[in-house]
Amino acid sequence: MLLAHAIANTFRQHFQGEPLMVRAPGRVNLIGEHTDYNAGYVLPAAVDKEIFFAVALNQTDTIRLVAHDLNKKFSVAAESVQRSNTGWANYLLGVVAQFQQRGIAVPGFDCVFGGTIPMGAGLSSSAAVECGLAFALDQLLGTQLDRLTLAQMAQKAEHEFALVQCGLMDQFASLFGRQGQVVRLDCRSLQYEYFPFDTTAAQVVLCNSGVKHSLASSEYNTRRQECEQGVAVLQQYEPTIQSLRDATPELVRAHEQELGDVVFRRCLYVVEENLRVEAAGRHLLAGDLAAFGREMYASHAGLRDLYEVSCPELDVLVAAAQQAPGVFGARMMGGGFGGCTINLVAPNQVEAFIAHQTAAYQQQLGLELETYTASIVAGVGEWIAPTAE
Ligand code: GLA
Repeated sequence: MLLAHAIANTFRQHFQGEPLMVRAPGRVNLIGEHTDYNAGYVLPAAVDKEIFFAVALNQTDTIRLVAHDLNKKFSVAAESVQRSNTGWANYLLGVVAQFQQRGIAVPGFDCVFGGTIPMGAGLSSSAAVECGLAFALDQLLGTQLDRLTLAQMAQKAEHEFALVQCGLMDQFASLFGRQGQVVRLDCRSLQYEYFPFDTTAAQVVLCNSGVKHSLASSEYNTRRQECEQGVAVLQQYEPTIQSLRDATPELVRAHEQELGDVVFRRCLYVVEENLRVEAAGRHLLAGDLAAFGREMYASHAGLRDLYEVSCPELDVLVAAAQQAPGVFGARMMGGGFGGCTINLVAPNQVEAFIAHQTAAYQQQLGLELETYTASIVAGVGEWIAPTAE
């Protein structure tokens, strides 16, 4: 049975009425890591690892939530929504609070959700949960908020209820994804451009390190602060600098002493990564996957050595990919400290690549490797059951 049907059935078991069905994808990011909150560029895409929702207003004052995968329930009075001690519920409650903060009354509703996005794998399951509910409530309440507003509300939910000071990339990718295309977002102007991604030339393969680092959110917030410190120092010399987006590697290098070792390396990584995203976009348009892949390897080296958000397992996977057949490029993906590597692989070599990576991970670390071949899909939308079921 399709997972979406199972979610709809769970809804019917717990609640009355016919739910609105919504699908919200996770994301990959080809390049542009830790650049979003520095007003830079990112190059993500929505993928076929998704969360499904069954949602309906229930004519009461109570919000009732069911996590299908965890087999857990949570309810709360709609008027007293606040951050709870239940981690999974907070992503949903955070979204409700965003509607309420805009003066939109949220009545009682029922929601069952579950999906295929592995948790803690760096595929943004949390953004998918937030964006899916934001879209569903917008539909059910008739608020007609645009997708950018929904993405920003979902991002604020993450800030206020999950306490991660994330940028906009994940929520943007989940809501703005297009089938077969990657999207380059300028996180300052919020202008974006789609690029076709030719899956006959390269497949996106993800290697899940299986590492879920408990430091991820605290270190994430620390990186953000270090970047802000860097901006404050550089501003003393170049008053026009508003964010690291405005700085160049030359400027950062010229102020190495004043920045201090750690902040210097954080800043240098970010300014170089922005240049890599721009170059990568040109390579993608030119169909030069080898050159694109070199930017990915350079991105990984920067994340490992300068930004220091990688971990030994991710480094082993990227080093192994460099020796594997048919690989254009590889790097760690997302916030870091675990999760997946993203690999661009020639389609006829995908099987050999997976076998190579699995063997290397086993031999070098004694660990089992989970891999996924990702397809690029459309962003959040209503899910309609296929007719020929
Ligand atoms: C996490 C955050 C994003 C982004 C990435 C790193 O996924 O949610 O906003 O900062 O890390 O690029």
